[in-house]
Amino acid sequence: MPSPRHLIRLQDLSDTELEEILDLSSRLDPRSGRPVLSGRSVGMLFFRGSLRTRASLESAVHRLGGHAINLTAMSDFWELEERDGVTMDGRSPEHVRDAAAVLSTYVDALAIRPSAKMQSWDVDRRDERISAWARYATVPVLNMESSLWHPMQALADLLTMRQRLGSLAGQELAITWVHSPEPASAAVVHSLLHAASRFGMRVRIAHPPGFDLDTGVVREAEEVAAASGGGIEFSSSMEEAVRGAGIVYARSWQSLESYGNPTLAASHRSRATDWRITSELLQLGNDVGLMHAMPVRRNVEVTDEVLESDASLLVKQAGNRLPAQMALLMHMLRAH
Ligand code: CP
Repeated sequence: MPSPRHLIRLQDLSDTELEEILDLSSRLDPRSGRPVLSGRSVGMLFFRGSLRTRASLESAVHRLGGHAINLTAMSDFWELEERDGVTMDGRSPEHVRDAAAVLSTYVDALAIRPSAKMQSWDVDRRDERISAWARYATVPVLNMESSLWHPMQALADLLTMRQRLGSLAGQELAITWVHSPEPASAAVVHSLLHAASRFGMRVRIAHPPGFDLDTGVVREAEEVAAASGGGIEFSSSMEEAVRGAGIVYARSWQSLESYGNPTLAASHRSRATDWRITSELLQLGNDVGLMHAMPVRRNVEVTDEVLESDASLLVKQAGNRLPAQMALLMHMLRAH
């Protein structure tokens, strides 16, 4: 049997495929029924929480006439062993290779949101958990946000930026770190950086010292940007990054330097509590639209004033998860 196509990162889609999915996303009316997935099922496995990804993907499957089976780890199923060749006399009663093989006989695709081990970035950046599902499943595996990548979010981000700016080539995007007592992973920003570079955007990234993105991801994005005519610059000033930008993308991400060391990480963050999106900051942009993958901590990451202003694209961006994932499912399951 040929190996199924998986979507672990946006790079798994060719330029033509990405263009087709974005084009279909912008043409789809999520309210009108299109039962192209009639009789087909998608398994969704969550090893940690989600609001948007879970609700939008489940809704996308239903709106296409399919059936979503939603499973949450530790309540709907048990801890899974991931190591190969071990004697399974510990906590885990089932191996991921058996779970993946069995579920593949029930569903047409498996969407996975793995948890991270949170001890070492060198380990978590390998994305071994989602890779194991991709290795053992015999149906397409779709990444619903691993440690390194969030390709579904990137599709909605591209759609949102296109709706706002039109063609993305040469457009200025500021990605800025913002303070949060519980920062998210860098996956959203890694996928966004790749996506924006691929479309030739001029990206400026601002973050405090100690919050560098993954070196391998940045190196790859720089190569992609060089080929597309885009560019990537780094700054330690939000103001510098935002000046002249058409889109400001705010995200709080963990320090990869203090990864797995909560005390040191909190100390790093405590030096940057003023990294917040305000109206004054956005005035430096060029008719700026604010994006954020959410959840957003009001008046910590972004002020209420900004979130209630016309500059905020957050709800539109989150809403775009639905058509983007409907188009993705139609593409991955060849259901047109
Ligand atoms: N943006 C995003 O993935 O949101 P959830 O974590 O709520 O799914």
